[in-house]
Amino acid sequence: MRQINVKIPANQAGKEYNVDIQKGILDHVGELIGNIWNKRKIALISDDNVAPIYQGRVADSLEKVGFEVKEYQFPAGEESKSLDMLGKLISQMAADHFTRDDAIVALGGGVTGDLAGFVAATYMRGISLVQIPTSLLAQVDSSVGGKTAVDHNDTKNIIGAFLQPDLVIIDPETLRTLHKRDLVEGYGEIVKTAGLTDGPLWDLVNKINSVDDILENAEELSELSIQYKTTVVEQDAQEGGIRQLLNFGHTMGHAVEALSEGDLRHGEAVSIGLVAICRIFESKGLSPKGLTQEIKDRFDAVGLPTTSRFLDDPAAILDKIKNDKKNHNGHLNLVYLKAIGGPAIKSVPSDEIADFLNLTDLVK
Ligand SMILES: NC(=O)c1ccc[n+]([C@@H]2O[C@H](COP(=O)([O-])OP(=O)(O)OC[C@H]3O[C@@H](n4cnc5c(N)ncnc54)[C@H](O)[C@@H]3O)[C@@H](O)[C@H]2O)c1
Repeated sequence: MRQINVKIPANQAGKEYNVDIQKGILDHVGELIGNIWNKRKIALISDDNVAPIYQGRVADSLEKVGFEVKEYQFPAGEESKSLDMLGKLISQMAADHFTRDDAIVALGGGVTGDLAGFVAATYMRGISLVQIPTSLLAQVDSSVGGKTAVDHNDTKNIIGAFLQPDLVIIDPETLRTLHKRDLVEGYGEIVKTAGLTDGPLWDLVNKINSVDDILENAEELSELSIQYKTTVVEQDAQEGGIRQLLNFGHTMGHAVEALSEGDLRHGEAVSIGLVAICRIFESKGLSPKGLTQEIKDRFDAVGLPTTSRFLDDPAAILDKIKNDKKNHNGHLNLVYLKAIGGPAIKSVPSDEIADFLNLTDLVK
């Protein structure tokens, strides 16, 4: 089994937990959780795509070691990351007499992790949580780091909390039932991380030339991506400093994603945003020549989009960027690469962002 230990320092929630990665580990969830929790009631939360495939299997494994399990399901999709769904799940748990000593297991993609995680952060002021991510995006990124949230009034993740899980269990075999578009989307975040780190992850990403390659290398891709995220989160659990690097490609990506009104998935928007921001910094001589093409080749290899008609409207993009919640004190921090594995942050005053990005050049 591959295992990564995450240590959040005492001044930032002070918590230590493991990320266990192994093919077939889903059948051992009961033993693994039994090692860290005494017997209690568990709310096993999944969406209605994941539940029919995996919820029963995980519930069996938990019950076998003596946990009492209540299975909850919600409709799959981003729309379920809502206050309404939060309320429904909390009502169900209250009706089933969950107390502060009980716990939640989130079994599913990033939507499940964020929603069930936020239920755990808020139910009776917070109960214990284990994350079992089943999508690639959740396995390489969202299940680790403690961010939980729901969307509100068209703004993503606007209501949320930090809650580090007690354990993360990753079974790369679950990726085999994921739709191809969902799998490839998650790979967008892996290329992002590889660009930030260089080393073995960048080397591995350079060998990925098809969707099958992603599946075959899923264990190692998860391990290397999470190792990097862990080093960043351990230094900056609540995104005051170095954790901002993880937003590489996301400023433009979020803008394109919002303009697409659901046509683009998050990971697809990230690959478009990442290539766009690399191109801008390369044109200014702040990133080396050819770097944009190197990154673009990695996305092209698996069919991720790297350009979009939504980039053709600079005014609309700028409008979205100016309202991005990552703006700090009138400045926007843009992540760029001085080299593969050499990230840096350029802080641009909001009123200079239009000149700096010069988006009309991008669409020429
Ligand atoms: N908390 C964080 O740090 C963080 C980081 C990045 C993204 N996110 C959030 O993650 C969400 C996107 O995550 P996602 O792409 O996993 O979306 P998702 O949870 O909606 O999963 C995508 C689709 O795949 C299905 N699915 C998941 N696992 C499956 C499996 N093994 N077999 C079959 N189908 C499966 C789901 O039902 C869904 O239809 C967004 O809401 C985003 O804001 C959070």
